[in-house]
Amino acid sequence: MDLFDRQWSSYRAIVEHNLMEHRQVADATADALQDWLAQRPAQSRAPSMVDLGCGDLALLAPLLQRLPLGSYTGLDRAAVVLPLAQRALAPVPYACQWLEGDLLTWATTTATATAARPADRQGLAKAEDRTDGRKSASSAAATDHGQKYVAAAVDILHSAFAIHHLDADQKATFLQGARQRISADGVFLWADVFREPGENRRDFLQRYSERVRSDWHQLTAEQAQHVIDHLNQFDIPADRTSIQATAETAGWHWRWSWQGTHRAEALAVLTPA
Ligand SMILES: C[S@@+](CC[C@H](N)C(=O)[O-])C[C@H]1O[C@@H](n2cnc3c(N)ncnc32)[C@H](O)[C@@H]1O
Repeated sequence: MDLFDRQWSSYRAIVEHNLMEHRQVADATADALQDWLAQRPAQSRAPSMVDLGCGDLALLAPLLQRLPLGSYTGLDRAAVVLPLAQRALAPVPYACQWLEGDLLTWATTTATATAARPADRQGLAKAEDRTDGRKSASSAAATDHGQKYVAAAVDILHSAFAIHHLDADQKATFLQGARQRISADGVFLWADVFREPGENRRDFLQRYSERVRSDWHQLTAEQAQHVIDHLNQFDIPADRTSIQATAETAGWHWRWSWQGTHRAEALAVLTPA
């Protein structure tokens, strides 16, 4: 088992046992999307959705299958999760596109990427080189319209538990870029771990690691250690108050729609101000 497989199986165990309240996050996401959809004029076009750091969609697929989307794009920097996500989601009546890429690059790159070619009509298209040197993969249904999806403003932007890997400057850049890519009446649902106001990263990591050690009995000792190692190496959760100010400066209106019970997990709903 390689490092990714070990880390992914630890993450799967976390999701399965709801240790990060993924089920509540999914319910809150569904509620926020229903509210947003209900406010749209009846004759609006079916919304496009982009999911940054989509993972394997193990939890979100049932919600996505119910949504009246025009298109769905799942983007993740780990190519290995994309076929899993595609399998979890299919079949849906809207076009899907699967991109291997970086979410910060997505937010800051204007629509110059080439559309995917219809390389494999049975499933995932073969990865192909794009003009920016990254790889893209697309389901057959999306290939005819790939260019349009890359170029068009996004109606629903979603990201769960991925943006906290960016540092503070990168998060600010991400929020500015994403603001340029959202449609005027669009919505950005950001589920993630956040620090308490004024709490520093070291204190956050300490109390989160303590939570893993003392409460996450469903994990093996090895899995718990993977999680703690991952936290210390990669996680840079934003301070709740300052990230809201950063988002507002970037032109977003910010609303907390759900807060978990551990002063960490939360869902923010951002709309163009
Ligand atoms: C903790 S998992 C969350 C997966 C899924 N969104 C969920 O809620 O279950 C984080 C995912 O984000 C991806 N990811 C992390 N940083 C990323 C980045 N900078 N660009 C694209 N994907 C990223 C990882 O590969 C991983 O699949």
